[in-house]
Amino acid sequence: MGKGGRDRRTSMEGPHDALRPGAPQGGPTLALAVAEPETNRAPDVDEPLVAAFPPRSRDLSFLRAVIDRRLGLLVPPAASHPAVLHAAMRHILLSPGKRLRPLLTLAAAIQLNASEHAVLDFGCALEMIHASSLIVDDLPCMDDAALRRAQPTTHVQYGEDVAVLASIALLSRAFGVAAAAQGVSERARLEAVAILSMAVGSLGLCGGQYDDLRPNPGRSLAATEDVNRRKTGVLFSAAVEIAGHVAGADEAQLGHLKALAGHVGRAYQILDDILDASASSASLGKDVGKDAHKATVIASLGAPRARKLLSEHLAGALAASKDLGPNTEGQEPLRDFMTAAFGELMGPLAP
Ligand code: IPE
Ligand code: IPE
Ligand code: MG
Ligand code: MG
Ligand code: MG
Repeated sequence: MGKGGRDRRTSMEGPHDALRPGAPQGGPTLALAVAEPETNRAPDVDEPLVAAFPPRSRDLSFLRAVIDRRLGLLVPPAASHPAVLHAAMRHILLSPGKRLRPLLTLAAAIQLNASEHAVLDFGCALEMIHASSLIVDDLPCMDDAALRRAQPTTHVQYGEDVAVLASIALLSRAFGVAAAAQGVSERARLEAVAILSMAVGSLGLCGGQYDDLRPNPGRSLAATEDVNRRKTGVLFSAAVEIAGHVAGADEAQLGHLKALAGHVGRAYQILDDILDASASSASLGKDVGKDAHKATVIASLGAPRARKLLSEHLAGALAASKDLGPNTEGQEPLRDFMTAAFGELMGPLAP
């Protein structure tokens, strides 16, 4: 995860490429000694985690490969009954997303000198929740999207009935994975499950999505930012707060983590809305223009001021990482994460 926007792009063409699996990378060779699950066997969370997970690795592509490998083990194989349902779950979960939420969990853990092994399954649980939410977000009754992660959306590929069940199954599996996480205190595990529950529920993502679909034209900027916090920010907050609990963070550190995630979540939805209005479907791998009628920050402020607010949130997030302080090796992986996640996506948007 290099600083300074490695392979930084100067156009909107393919802004996600450097964050996608398979993008050219330096960094350590991936050599994971994890057994593939046998067909028709339920996933076994007691299977060894990654055997060759270099400590303190901050290489984004490497960490993403670790996450993907683990995700593949945590859900039933596509061939196991009911095969179509499992194929639909794997279709969305293992498709080439950026894995920002689990990466953020790992970055926070590394900055807090905690074991990245200990938070990996929580990161995977977050990615399952995210994937579940993407299935729902794309349904005809929601944003009605046909393309997601450069492939057909789950309901287009498998039908709405299967898509809804796959979403519920992923969500349910996420809580099972979190509840069974190894190598953490019982208290941290319980905190994590409670945090995930709050993040998904009516006071979090579901409530945010509800309000997002009911765009009141007179909605204030503050109200719109609160919708963004609930529909998008909560999973970023959960990512760092869970890492904080695993690391035994004190109140001051948790405060910095919450401040950081608050800014990251708001910044990320503004960026997503800017890309929705300005980038191509081919470069994003998903439908664009789906939020043109929504009460977005761009609708409130116009694009130039929305970009300024995005920059302010990013500055706030970077300041929070600085307040948290580097790890014992002098590294600031949260800063590196933000540089990678936003730098590559923003390209020419950067002020
Ligand atoms: C898309 O999230 C939905 C939003 C909250 C904006 P991502 O941009 O992280 O999507 P993937 O996971 O990379 O596909
Ligand atoms: C979705 O926001 C947030 C979720 C909870 C999935 P968007 O509707 O803007 O996400 P995209 O653009 O479809 O990925
Ligand atoms: Mg939406
Ligand atoms: Mg959408
Ligand atoms: Mg969007």
